[in-house]
Amino acid sequence: MSGFICRVSNNLVKEKVLNSLELLRYQDDDSTGIIFASTKGCHRYRVVGDISDLRKEIPEDVDGHVAMAHTRWSTYAKQIVEKVYPICSENRLVAVIVHGLIDNILTIKRRLERQGYKFETTSANEVVANLIDFYVQEGGSKLTYLQSLNKAVHYLEGSYALTALFIGEGDRIYFAKKETAMVIVKTDDSFVITNDFNAVVQESRLYYYPLDGAIGYISKDDLFVFDRDLERITSQFTKATITEQELELGHYPHYMLKEIEESPRVVRRLINQYFDGNKYRFDNALIDRIMEADNIVFIAAGTSYNAALVGQRYLRSFNKKVDVFIASEWIYYPYQSGDNPLYILISQSGETSDVLKCMRIIRSYGGEILAITNTEVSTLFQSADYRLLLHAGPEISVASTKAYIAQITLLSLLYARLLNKVTTIAALEKVINALNEMIERRHEIEKIASMIKNSRDVFFLGRGFDYDLAIEAQLKLKETTYIHSEAYAGGEILHGPLALIDDKTPVIVFLSDNSTVSAMREVIVHIKDRGANVIIVSAEPFTLPEDNFGLVTLVKSYHSPILFAVFGQYLAYYIAVGLGRNVDRPRGLNKSVQDANGK
Ligand code: F6R
Repeated sequence: MSGFICRVSNNLVKEKVLNSLELLRYQDDDSTGIIFASTKGCHRYRVVGDISDLRKEIPEDVDGHVAMAHTRWSTYAKQIVEKVYPICSENRLVAVIVHGLIDNILTIKRRLERQGYKFETTSANEVVANLIDFYVQEGGSKLTYLQSLNKAVHYLEGSYALTALFIGEGDRIYFAKKETAMVIVKTDDSFVITNDFNAVVQESRLYYYPLDGAIGYISKDDLFVFDRDLERITSQFTKATITEQELELGHYPHYMLKEIEESPRVVRRLINQYFDGNKYRFDNALIDRIMEADNIVFIAAGTSYNAALVGQRYLRSFNKKVDVFIASEWIYYPYQSGDNPLYILISQSGETSDVLKCMRIIRSYGGEILAITNTEVSTLFQSADYRLLLHAGPEISVASTKAYIAQITLLSLLYARLLNKVTTIAALEKVINALNEMIERRHEIEKIASMIKNSRDVFFLGRGFDYDLAIEAQLKLKETTYIHSEAYAGGEILHGPLALIDDKTPVIVFLSDNSTVSAMREVIVHIKDRGANVIIVSAEPFTLPEDNFGLVTLVKSYHSPILFAVFGQYLAYYIAVGLGRNVDRPRGLNKSVQDANGK
C-alpha cells in the first residue's frame, strides 16, 4: 500500500512534496524515500521508517526544483533500505517509482541478467529501472530519454503507473500509464504527478487524467503527453468541482465526525442531482441496459461491498439474477450467469486495485461496466461504459462514512427510476429528517459507546436490510477501534456462534426491517437467556419502551441501512475517541487499498 508524488517547479519543492507525502501516508508507513534532481546531479534519501524519519535524513541545505517521492506500508515483509523507492538503475542513469503489477517481470529480469545486469533486490522497480537503463545505453545519443523510455514501456506487460527521472538531465519527470492510478495536476508554480489527487487538491483543482497507453513528461513550464507512437496528444486540464469548505475541518475535531454529519446534505445533493422535480435524471441508455441484462453482478470491496449488498436486495425484485461479489475473490473465480450480464463496480475511490483488476478481467471478456464512484478523477470512472457519481464530496477520513450513505441513496434512486416510482423522493425527504434526528441525538449514542468501549468483542445482529447494515456497523467498529466485532444474520447466531456470547458481550441488534422484526425479537429472547448485554436499536413503528435507542422519524425499511449506518458510524467514532485511537487514520487501512503485496 503506497503513494507517490513527483513535482517539477519554478520554486523549491522540498516542503510541498513532503506535505503531499503526509497526505498520502498510512498510519504505519515503514518505508519512505525521496530523490531531488537538478542539472548538477541528484540526491536520494531513503529510510525504513516514516516521513518524520525521512525529514531527519534530508540535510537542511538540500532542496531542488525537481523531486520524486514515495511512501509505503509493506504489509507482507520486513523492509530493507535497498528496497525503498525511488529505485535507481545499476548504472545510476535513471530513478523510478512504479506502481502496479508487471506480469513479465521475471522474463525481463532474465534478459537483463544475460546482458550483465546484477540485481540487489527482488523488487520489480529495480527490473524496470534497469530495463530503461538498458535502452538508454543501447540508444546512446541517437535516442532521446523519451524514446528510450518508450522502448522500455513497449516491453512491459501488465498494469503500471511509472514515473522516471533521468539522473543526467534533472529538469523533467517522465511518466507512462496503463490501468493504474495516476493523475497530473497543474498548480500555480508546478506540475505534479501523483497516484492520488487528494495529495495536492488543497493547492489546485486543475487535473489531467492520462489515458491508458499515455507516455510523456512534465517540466517546470508544461506537460507533454504522447501516444505510444510518440505522436503528441493535446492535454487539457479540467477543473475538479471541489469546494474549499469540503476540504476544511472547520470546527470539527475529526474528519470522520464532519463527514458523518454531512450525511443529510449528501442525500439532498443526490436527490437534486438525479431528480429534476418531476422525473429522474438517469441516462436512458443506462436504464435500458440494466433492464435488458439477464444477470447483474455487483463487485466491490469493504464498505462499498456492504453497500452492494443493499443494492442486490433492491435489484432482485426485478425477477432477474443479481449477484454480489467481493472484488478480491471474484478475481480468482470470475463468475457470471446468463448471456447478457451487466457488471456494477462500486468504489468510493475508484482506485482500489482489486476492483480495477476485476474491471480488466471484465474488459477482456468484452463485458460492460457501470461504475459507481465518488471520484471522477479515478481509473474506474474514466474507464467504465456507464458511470454514476456519488457527489458525496471528498471523503478525507480513511474510514468510509458519507460515501456509504451516498452509495445506498444512489442505489435507491436508481431502483426508484427502474420502477418509475416518484414517491421514493418523499421517502428520501423523510430520510433527511431522520438523519437530522440521529445527529441531534448523537449524545445518546455516545453514552452507549462509553458503556461498551472496554469490551473485548462486540456482536451485531439483524435480518434482511438490518443484516446488511450490521455487516457495515461491525466493519466500522473494528477498523476504527480495533475491537473485535462480528456481524451475524439474526437467525444464524443460533447455529453455533451463541457459544461465544456471555454476560460481558454487547450484542447490538438492529430492528427496522418490517418483514423480519418479529422473528428477530424471538432471537433476542434466546440471546438474553445467555445473559448477553443486548442493546436494541429500533425504528418506529417497531420500537418497544425497553429498547436502548428508538428512532422516532418514520422511514421506509428499505432506507433504514442509511440511518442505522450512521448509528454505527457514531458508535465507532465515539469508541475510537474514547480509546484514544487515531480516528481519521486508523492503522492498516488507506483511502484506496492497493495490492496486498505492497505495490
Ligand atoms: C471502510 C473502508 C474500506 C473501503 C474499501 C473499498 O471504512 O474505508 O473498507 O470501503 O477499501 O474502498 P473503495 O470504496 O474506495 O473501493
